[in-house]
Amino acid sequence: MFWDRLFATKTLEMLDAEAKGENRLRRVLGPVGLTSLGVGAIIGAGIFVMTGRVAANDAGPGVLLSYAIAGIACALAAFCYSEFASMAPVAGSAYTYAYATLGEVFAWIIGWDLILEYAMSAATVASFWSNYLNKLLEVLHIPKVPWWLCSDPFSTPGAIMNLPAVVILMACTAVLVIGIRESAASNTALVLLKLGVVIFVIIVGISYINSENFFGIPSEGRKLPEQTIIPDKAQEHAKLEATLLKVAGDWSKQFVDDEQKAKKLEVQSVNVTTNNAGTKELVSDKSPEPKSEAERKADEEAKKDPVRTRAKKLTDQALAAFIVGIADKEEHKQSEHWKAMKKKYEGKLPTSEKDKEIVKVIIRQAKEEAPKKVAEKWGMVGELGINETLTTIDNKTRNNFMPYGISGVMLGAALVFFAFIGFDSISTHSEEAIDPQRDVPIGILASLGICTVLYILVSAVITGMVPYYDIDVSAAIASAFTDEGTRTHSWILNAAGGLIAAGALAGMTSVLLITFLSQSRIFLAMARDGLMPHSIFGAVHEDFKTPHISTIVTGTLMSLVSAFTPIAVLEEMVNIGTLFAFVVVCAAVLILRIKRPDAPRPFTCPMVFVIAPLGILVNLTLMFFLPADTWYRLIVWLGLGLVIYFGFGYHYSVMRDVEAGGAVPGAAGSAEAPAEPAVKPPETGIKE
Ligand code: ALA
Repeated sequence: MFWDRLFATKTLEMLDAEAKGENRLRRVLGPVGLTSLGVGAIIGAGIFVMTGRVAANDAGPGVLLSYAIAGIACALAAFCYSEFASMAPVAGSAYTYAYATLGEVFAWIIGWDLILEYAMSAATVASFWSNYLNKLLEVLHIPKVPWWLCSDPFSTPGAIMNLPAVVILMACTAVLVIGIRESAASNTALVLLKLGVVIFVIIVGISYINSENFFGIPSEGRKLPEQTIIPDKAQEHAKLEATLLKVAGDWSKQFVDDEQKAKKLEVQSVNVTTNNAGTKELVSDKSPEPKSEAERKADEEAKKDPVRTRAKKLTDQALAAFIVGIADKEEHKQSEHWKAMKKKYEGKLPTSEKDKEIVKVIIRQAKEEAPKKVAEKWGMVGELGINETLTTIDNKTRNNFMPYGISGVMLGAALVFFAFIGFDSISTHSEEAIDPQRDVPIGILASLGICTVLYILVSAVITGMVPYYDIDVSAAIASAFTDEGTRTHSWILNAAGGLIAAGALAGMTSVLLITFLSQSRIFLAMARDGLMPHSIFGAVHEDFKTPHISTIVTGTLMSLVSAFTPIAVLEEMVNIGTLFAFVVVCAAVLILRIKRPDAPRPFTCPMVFVIAPLGILVNLTLMFFLPADTWYRLIVWLGLGLVIYFGFGYHYSVMRDVEAGGAVPGAAGSAEAPAEPAVKPPETGIKE
């Protein structure tokens, strides 16, 4: 009985009855509406923010290959999604497909996992929203939101919270609670704006591509692990220095009994930690030289946050010393690249003896930690010990285009995978499709195809315009244009930077709205099945006809997550959760082909016995390139989900009644079907 319950499956007939049942969502979406929904959900933070970061830190120009690999992984899953969506056009997406094949407990696990794909990805996108907001404010010469209100405290030490992320999520919550009656128009407008910006980036950017940036940067020019460790070490030193100086000041006050002396030391300590030039420590008694406007501003900033300023100074100095050290190696002396790098960084080397010593220590510590960082880069592959074999391949295949080797391209694929998330949200709107059997597969495949082509072109533009190691990792596309504009004194490029920032904000906002909406669809499906509390996830507002409580609860949780949790961790969680869902959908399609070979399939996945296993393999491989910690977190997350299932869903599932001979929940005309379904369908949606 226990096991029967856990693995109870919904039959295709039940799903069909559900889809035809009364009180379902209104069927208003055609192929264009569904494709626009897909593009709306797909293009967002991934392309506008992550491409630059992955190119700079993980894959170099090889990020193009990363996009191609992630696109293939998604295309394989998309065929499987399409077959399922055509067979069971109800709101639950992968959750429903798992219910039909693997059983209730698996369905629950997938439903719970999809929270990562939808709610958590919305939280991630919201936190990136801040970067482009500040970029836009900068271009418009409007004061920016201070850094300490633009990041979670884990990603940026000293920050308080990501306030713009909370504001945009709250705004989306309000819109979705009230219900966007003009949603078709707003979605189409946002999608057109972001598509316009992406196409503009490609057309304008292509003429600024310098092929040297693809093939001319020697692979030794890549960011080495030490370069990612140095900022942390510099931060530690700056903190330590401030603490020591404070203790010295206190000690002096307490024991030397010489007020004047103590005061002098305090003044000096402030100068040590705040002096922006960083080269005149302990010189407070010297008469100050006249300062430029920029220096005065920097000093003001430094007074506000001395430790941060000092850390930045040490970071710059240590990075310069590290890079100049490589450039000075005998084998690099003739290289044009290294000559240019030396010229660029020489001016930033430490000048005072004290700083030189500190910088040496920072570099030594970074070198000591580098092997650990290298191992981490292999993710779960490293944990399994396969990395040693792969490192050999990596070293052999490393070239200027793929400076980080195959591992970099694969890690890049596992990360830029985020950019593709969203195409499957079309399947959560199957219930609103006019002809789901035909249009949902069209929408899924068309939106994925369009976005893949655009992504590869945009990443080619970014890595072609800017040497990958110089890419601005917070707002890559806009910065590529504004930097080029500053260099060439072109106001058009500077203005383009503003337009891109506005397009990115619009793009991310549409992603937020649609993924948030998709999340409420999944919760709705789960509440209908009794696996989630009706009172929260099924309650529908009398006037607005929207699942208001579910939306407010989800929006509040998402806001908290985006404001305070480490965003990089969250992003990897979103990816692993979605990859897992894709693996399950590919497996589920195969299972159903075997269990129900004759069931009607309006859309059949071509060569399913090749495509589905390949989908499982490629998506699993990407999962293995994600950090081991992400795997452990996923296991904990799914474990927590199981605890909740056994505490609630197991007892309240409507399948209990069906098993006991009751009606198919929600089916039309069923004698036992509730006259008023427990969950009224909300009317909020993207309508054509
Ligand atoms: N694919 C969505 C984005 O890149 C989640 O923002």
